Amino acid sequence: MVSIKDIPSFLGKEVSIAGWVSNFRSSGKIMFLQLRDGSGFMQAVAQKSSFSEEEWLNLEKINQEASIELTGIVKENTRDTFGFELSVSKFSILNYSNEDYPISNKDHGVDFLMDHRHLWLRSKRQWAILRIRNTIINATYEFFNKEGFIKIDSPILTGNACEGTTELFELDYFDRPAYLSQSGQLYLEAAIFGFGKCFDFGPVFRAEKSKTRRHLTEFWMMDAEMAFHDYIDNMRVQESLICFILEKVLKDNRNELQILERNVEILEKVKAPFIIKTHKDVVKELQEMGSDIKEDDDMGADDETMLTKKYDKPIFVTKYPKTVKAFYMKEDPEDSSRVLCSDLLAPEGYGEIIGGSQREDDYDKLISRIKDHKLDPKTFEWYLDLRKYGSVPHSGFGYGLERIVTWICGLEHVRESIPFARTIQRLEP
Ligand code: 4AD
Ligand code: MG
Repeated sequence: MVSIKDIPSFLGKEVSIAGWVSNFRSSGKIMFLQLRDGSGFMQAVAQKSSFSEEEWLNLEKINQEASIELTGIVKENTRDTFGFELSVSKFSILNYSNEDYPISNKDHGVDFLMDHRHLWLRSKRQWAILRIRNTIINATYEFFNKEGFIKIDSPILTGNACEGTTELFELDYFDRPAYLSQSGQLYLEAAIFGFGKCFDFGPVFRAEKSKTRRHLTEFWMMDAEMAFHDYIDNMRVQESLICFILEKVLKDNRNELQILERNVEILEKVKAPFIIKTHKDVVKELQEMGSDIKEDDDMGADDETMLTKKYDKPIFVTKYPKTVKAFYMKEDPEDSSRVLCSDLLAPEGYGEIIGGSQREDDYDKLISRIKDHKLDPKTFEWYLDLRKYGSVPHSGFGYGLERIVTWICGLEHVRESIPFARTIQRLEP
């Protein structure tokens, strides 16, 4: 069996392919089948004159999503975007599809499509998005391997919160509560003392009450953590990672980006150095643009959208107010009301894709931050130990895979960037 993606090298030769029929039409004498085999899409053409009466009748019973094996000669077809078609000499129908396949080739509403996500995954658009997601995942591994990071798998069941308690999923763990991880960061902080530079990559959970185009309750996070790196070094690593990912997608997924009608020129302009601005400066800029944000406010989703629509490069926003950020972020030595953090915001209105910071490495300061956040120091004993035995300056960051996929693919909503989205309203399929 030949994969459709390899068809161009078989021009003029006989091949067999196996796949599904996504669309078809027949004139009675000639039949056009649109095929999909997972690796790509192509047209096959069958002439009635090449088959027996019975065979032709079987072929005429074909329907959308029937599975089929076909043999024939690969021919050029300049009218088709793929450039090739299969001239069918033999076929074998594996299974006809039920007639009530719910997704037709006309427009459907997004809710309907999300309800049929298990079938919607077969569409060209979803094929393009999830292949780009795959490239981003692999590029991430490749980047960290070449930079000397070790992958450390953080646990999913945890006894303490990482990102505050309001968005925690709690479950019964024998005779005590446990929480689903919101980020593997704290565990990576332990691991850098053994391995220097580490990353993890896995599902994380947020009991987000927000119904926005940016929020999922289960999503994939990659956390990276580095000993002897300050918050500036931290930004440089993020910048290199994002540029590396973009280069890979632009090289390997041209076809997918075209299917998505993504403006590739905009992505090509994304080059280092990224813009760096302090939270204070960004607040002034936003106020001038009409936002009512104050100096000590977190940036809301609307502020992020407004700001990032102005720029064609990602922006690091640094030194947020201490009060709006997590307990583990290191206080700015120049201004104790701020922390040495950065959020990386993607351009074109997409907003936050990465959150990162230098970590508080001082035992006493950390314990008082834990108390300020009304967290129980007892559950953080192991984490506090890291500040007792050879504490070092260190930094790290976490990216939201779906936010990056959404931006690079140019999607309107994060729900299409993950195979099976989980939101407040959605647990199925
Ligand atoms: O900014 P966050 O909350 O940072 C952390 O969890 C840190 N512990 C990471 C670290 O320093 N190792 O989340 C990191 C990223 C965000 O920038 C965003 O891209 C994504 O995770 N994210 C979400 N993506 C989808 N749905 C949600 N509900 C998300 N919440 C955060
Ligand atoms: Mg964040």
